[in-house]
Amino acid sequence: MVSELRVLIAYLSYSGNTEEVAAYIGDYFNREGITVEWHRIGIDALNDPAYYDLIFLGTFTWERGSTPDEVKDFVLEVGYKPENMAIFGTGDTQFGGDDLFCRAADKLAKFYGSSYPVLKIEQSPRGSQESKIEQWLEGVLDNAKSYA
Ligand SMILES: Cc1cc2nc3c(=O)[nH]c(=O)nc-3n(C[C@H](O)[C@H](O)[C@H](O)COP(=O)(O)O)c2cc1C
Repeated sequence: MVSELRVLIAYLSYSGNTEEVAAYIGDYFNREGITVEWHRIGIDALNDPAYYDLIFLGTFTWERGSTPDEVKDFVLEVGYKPENMAIFGTGDTQFGGDDLFCRAADKLAKFYGSSYPVLKIEQSPRGSQESKIEQWLEGVLDNAKSYA
């Protein structure tokens, strides 16, 4: 039963864009009758990641495509590579075009061997990009259901 999925949304956000994507993901699951748990990277204490069926990890991308230090610390804190990580990121193509766009999210997905495509959102997801999040989530959930 998908409603019994245990879902964690972990994210880092400085100026709110990645937080907006995280909130959208949380709302989507709530509409599906699934209560999610939250981990604000760098703020909250981390629960045992092994408890969750699905872990969403969201980050923005920092200078020249780098991963924020807080996210690197989170990776160390998790301490192993959960197989059920779905990665999302926000970025801005003005900082280096497609090559560097959401590079931190790409690197995390590669590191974790994520079986899901990376969701990349340009700045705020509000407006036309909301449908992109929704489609991505449907794909993630279809895949997750096949394991449930
Ligand atoms: C100094 C600086 C460097 C950045 N470098 C990149 C980059 O290399 N690639 C990218 O996609 N976005 C880059 N960005 C854009 C941010 O990742 C983007 O604004 C993101 O949505 C911020 O997320 P937040 O609002 O959750 O903090 C950079 C932003 C700043 C301020």
